[in-house]
Amino acid sequence: MHKMKGLQVNSSGNWEKVEKELLQPAEHQVRIKVAACGVCHSDVFVKEKLWPNLHLPRIPGHEVAGIIDEVGAKVTKWQKGQHVGVGWAGWHCNECNACQHGDYILCERQTITGIDYDGGYAQYMIAPIEALAAIPDVLSFAEAAPLMCAGVTTFNALRHSKARAGDLVAIQGIGGLGHLAIQFANKMGFKTAAISKGADKKDLATKLGADIYLNTEDKEMNAQLQKLGGAKVILATAPSGKAISSLLNNLGTKGELIIIGAAPDPVEVNAIQLLSGNRSIQGWASGSAIDIEETLKFCALTGIRPMIQEFQLENAEQAYDAMMSNKVRFRSVIVME
Ligand SMILES: NC(=O)c1ccc[n+]([C@@H]2O[C@H](COP(=O)([O-])OP(=O)(O)OC[C@H]3O[C@@H](n4cnc5c(N)ncnc54)[C@H](OP(=O)(O)O)[C@@H]3O)[C@@H](O)[C@H]2O)c1
Ligand SMILES: [Zn+2]
Repeated sequence: MHKMKGLQVNSSGNWEKVEKELLQPAEHQVRIKVAACGVCHSDVFVKEKLWPNLHLPRIPGHEVAGIIDEVGAKVTKWQKGQHVGVGWAGWHCNECNACQHGDYILCERQTITGIDYDGGYAQYMIAPIEALAAIPDVLSFAEAAPLMCAGVTTFNALRHSKARAGDLVAIQGIGGLGHLAIQFANKMGFKTAAISKGADKKDLATKLGADIYLNTEDKEMNAQLQKLGGAKVILATAPSGKAISSLLNNLGTKGELIIIGAAPDPVEVNAIQLLSGNRSIQGWASGSAIDIEETLKFCALTGIRPMIQEFQLENAEQAYDAMMSNKVRFRSVIVME
């Protein structure tokens, strides 16, 4: 087989089913036969042409799980047949200040999967070796895929947060990221609150490990959190600055608002909200391939799995729509035959 099928965003920003020549990996790259690819809300940056200097057409998808099917001439660590994943972080330079400190995800010259080069909404993709994470045998491809971005981002944000076992941690937005964050918070030993609009997701959130369910439509919601002393950490996954801003007063003393939702509108805060109680706001960007491997190991150890809905590649558009309309429970995953 010398061709592959995929779904790309064309130069007008429309979905387009394509058949492309299979490419050979360059010296420090591998080719992956994609088995599954999660649909992340950040794919909106490609579909809606929101990413700076984006070159279209582009095949999106940065929650990739599959099998190495060809290796470049200078690849020694990876072999054909290995099960690997690729997340947001592509190539990193190993030379800039961030890389020197091991913060590869903050590399100043990094490339991003599904944005700077074609991603996993396709039967095959080419990946730089810096992006590869080994997948443990206990995880299926469809289970592993969402962990490449939704998983590593929430796992990393929580494990680097100020929260310690027993602390109250609130997760805002129960979507692809949020439903994994609830599980991580629970397994890390935090008292876990789930914040969602409406009561629809209450039962599922509780099943995933939420001790408390908070409905943003309930007028008493803020009072409920404040009665508990406020949260040590609020992990905000909603792509809405307005929704994120509304939570600030629910932080406890020295509480930390960690923003991972890429909201297009501003997050608003006044000085008193921060200086009363020494509260802080922090952003968090995904994670490196090493972070992904640690996320996968934690999931293998604790039994954490994403809740997914599978779609065939030919229905990838529906997979994206189900995510955008907040209908999927909780991650759309495109699976190849
Ligand atoms: N920092 C990073 O490295 C990183 C990594 C991956 C994704 N992201 C960003 O994180 C965000 C979430 O991604 P995702 O894949 O989890 O998205 P998702 O699956 O669409 O889930 C987002 C959830 O946020 C809530 N929500 C959506 N629109 C909202 C609005 N207008 N106001 C309030 N709440 C709203 C909904 O939860 P409820 O129904 O429960 O309210 C929804 O399920 C996106 O902005 C994405 O670009 C960032
Ligand atoms: Zn993502």
